[in-house]
Order: sequence, then C-alpha cells, then structure tokens
Amino acid sequence: MKISLPNNSKMNSKNFTFGVATASFQIEGGVDERLPCIWDTFCDKDGKIVDRSNGDVACDHINKWQQDVELIDSLGVDAYRLSISWPRVIKLDGTLNQSGVDFYINLLDKLKNKNIKTFVTLYHWDLPQHLEDKGGWLNRATAYAFESYVNLITKALGNRVDSYATLNEPFCSAFLGYEAGIHAPGIKGKEFGKKAAHHLLLAHGLGMRVLAKNSPNSQNGIVLNFTPAYPKTDSSADIIAAQKADDYFNQWYIKPIMDGAYPELLNELPQENHPDIHEGDFDIIATQLNFLGINYYTRAVYETDNSELFKEVPPKDVAITDIGWEIYPKGFSHLLVSLNETYTLPPIYITENGAAMADKIKDHEVNDIDRIAYYQSHLNAVNDAIEQGVNIKGYFAWSLMDNFEWAEGYTKRFGIVYVDYQTQIRTIKASGYAYKNFINRRT
Ligand code: FCB
Repeated sequence: MKISLPNNSKMNSKNFTFGVATASFQIEGGVDERLPCIWDTFCDKDGKIVDRSNGDVACDHINKWQQDVELIDSLGVDAYRLSISWPRVIKLDGTLNQSGVDFYINLLDKLKNKNIKTFVTLYHWDLPQHLEDKGGWLNRATAYAFESYVNLITKALGNRVDSYATLNEPFCSAFLGYEAGIHAPGIKGKEFGKKAAHHLLLAHGLGMRVLAKNSPNSQNGIVLNFTPAYPKTDSSADIIAAQKADDYFNQWYIKPIMDGAYPELLNELPQENHPDIHEGDFDIIATQLNFLGINYYTRAVYETDNSELFKEVPPKDVAITDIGWEIYPKGFSHLLVSLNETYTLPPIYITENGAAMADKIKDHEVNDIDRIAYYQSHLNAVNDAIEQGVNIKGYFAWSLMDNFEWAEGYTKRFGIVYVDYQTQIRTIKASGYAYKNFINRRT
C-alpha cells in the first residue's frame, strides 16, 4: 500500500518539510542521570498508568541514540522533532548539568551531520519534580524558572537548532494535569486548570523573548493541539455547547497568543476558576511567533447539558483507532481553514499527526495498512487546507517509534517503527516504508 498525493500538490515538493517526532520522557530512559520529574512521580502512584509502567527505560534512546539517528536518516526525512528533558539539563540549583547538555549536543551534531533539520521542543511535559513541590504550574514562579532554563540551554546549544518550540500542547499540561488529573502531576479540580494554563502561556511568552535574543536565526514558536468541537445535533443548544467546548479546550490557548486575550467564555466561569492575570501578561504572551505548530489526531462531539457548559458524547458507530479516537480527517482540513480565517497566522507546521493501531509483528514485519490509510487520509486533508490558502510548511508523523504513551503506558503503539521493549529491537513498519517512499518520490 502506497501513500501519494495529487501530482500538483505543493507537498510533493522538496520545499515542504517532512519529519518524524518524539519526546524526551517517552523514549529516553536514562532516569538515573537526571533529576526526577513529575511523570516519574506520577508513574509510581497506584492506578495512574494502565500497565503500571514508567519511563525508566522506555526506548533506551539515551543509549541507542546513534542507532536511532541512523534509523531516522534511513527514512529519508528532512527533519526530526525531539524534546529536551528539562530535568536532564538543569541541576537542583538551577545551573546547567553539563553531561545532560552534552547528550543533546552530540545528538544534534549527528543530526546536522546527516543534514537532518532539528526541531526542538523545550517543554514536553517533564517538569522537574522539585518545581512541582513548590506548586508546579500553579505557581507563577515556574514560568520564570522556565525562562531561566530556556536562557541557559539555548546559549549552550548555540546554532545547532533550526526551530524551537517553547511548549508542547499546554492544554494537556494544564487541563489533563491540573484539572482532570489524568496526567502528571494528577491534580484535580476546575479551579486549577485555567490557573495552570495562564502560567504555561506566560512561560511561553517569556521563552519567546529569550529565544529572540539567544537564537534569532531559528524559527521560534509553540506547538498547540486542537480537538475540533462538533455539535451532536444541529439544535442551537448543541451548537452553543460545542462552541463553548471549543473555547474552553482549543481557542483558550491560541487566542491569547494571537489576540492577547482569553475567549469571552472567561466571563461565564466562576471567579474561583479564573486565572491570576497580572498587568502586562498578555503583552508577553502575545509575543510574535515565527511559526505555529499544530497537532491533530481527532475531533470531539458535544451536546448541551443542564448543569455544565457542555457534555462530551463519546464516539459511537464510527471508525476509531486503537486508543478510541475517532478517525475524522475532514476535521483536520476544517480546523486548518477555520484557524486561518479566525487569526492572522504565522507559517504553520503540522508538528504531530498519527494513529495508535493494534500492531502485530510477524516474521520481522508489521503490516499496518490501517495506519497507512490514516496517514493517507490526513495528508490529503493537509493538502486540501493548503489548496484553500493555508500556509503550511511541514508535517511530522507521530511518532518515529512506539514509545511510552503517558497514562496508556506501553499499551498503545503510535510508531511508524515497531519497538520490541524486551530486546529494544526496532523494526520499520509498512507505514514507515510507505512514508519513506512517499517522501523520497518528491522532486
Ligand atoms: C500528543 C502528545 C504526544 C503523544 C501523542 C499521541 O498529545 O503530544 O506526546 O503522546 O499525543
């Protein structure tokens, strides 16, 4: 099975960047050589991770990184998106941990040697535990600790990085981590989510300013995830419910960055759920981006509710992936077009898109045609959005390889490369070959 796009597609050009993505906690292991982070602590708690696993070894990338760069190179991608583990490069006293820094310097140098562009995310959820002990993202000081970390690490990495993202998916850190409590640090309560979100956005803005100073030649921005909200019926009550959900989960993170304000929904939230906004915060948060990273996996459907702003309706009788997310490529093109209509966007990179599938390895092969179909339909959706005028410059598959899928542990596989966690042997899946062949046919 092949992946292909219409002949005239802009994505068939070598000017369009294709890559693969990972994140530090999900692949590195090497837990003894760094400070503990909130995910280490969360994994140790009963009942938080479905298979009771943790990130102690993960894909052992800390030892296998050279082989992994060869693997990335063998796929023929233009770029690799990775994240820096804050607790690996910073010590308790806030100064640099040189051996951790050296790990990334060597990795980035090897990628550069292979002519692979480096897209570095500075925070993909692994907050040092000692900062959580002081309140984590509920504490405004964490935003300034992030600023200091960004200052030190970007100076240390010099000109090795083509693109920096401050944060990955602040929605997940804020809502899943401090409101729903299903991600680290596992804090639950409606009064916390928007407070955490505000400090994350502040951290982003402070980070952007440091990047402009320390790394003016890289493309600097942020990665946001979107799960477009659809009404269950075309009743006005359901439509309003879906709009509110969209504001609460999606627009909440992009609007302050683009427009310097939260959605009006803020006025409908009880005072105790409001963020703690200081004068001048929005000027910092709305610092100009060089690019916006967008992650898309699925949509969500909402209906009206008597006591809440909205109620999510779980997918029923629709195609889903192994993690239960509806396969809805149309939502992807709609999302991109609607963001482009709503905001004056900088250039867009699709920084994550992909699918968990119940892969079976047989005779050293994984024939994941369902994942190939997912990629095909979602690449078509990106292409549609480009044809409708959205300025999209690149696309990253999530993920390079199977890895620690947060609360799902190792039970969900998102890789285009299969990982046998017993032997750490990597096997390129059929989707990996399809992606490779598609990328390498470009002219
Ligand atoms: C995103 C995360 C990424 C990965 C995918 C499946 O929300 O950024 O780390 O877990 O989901």
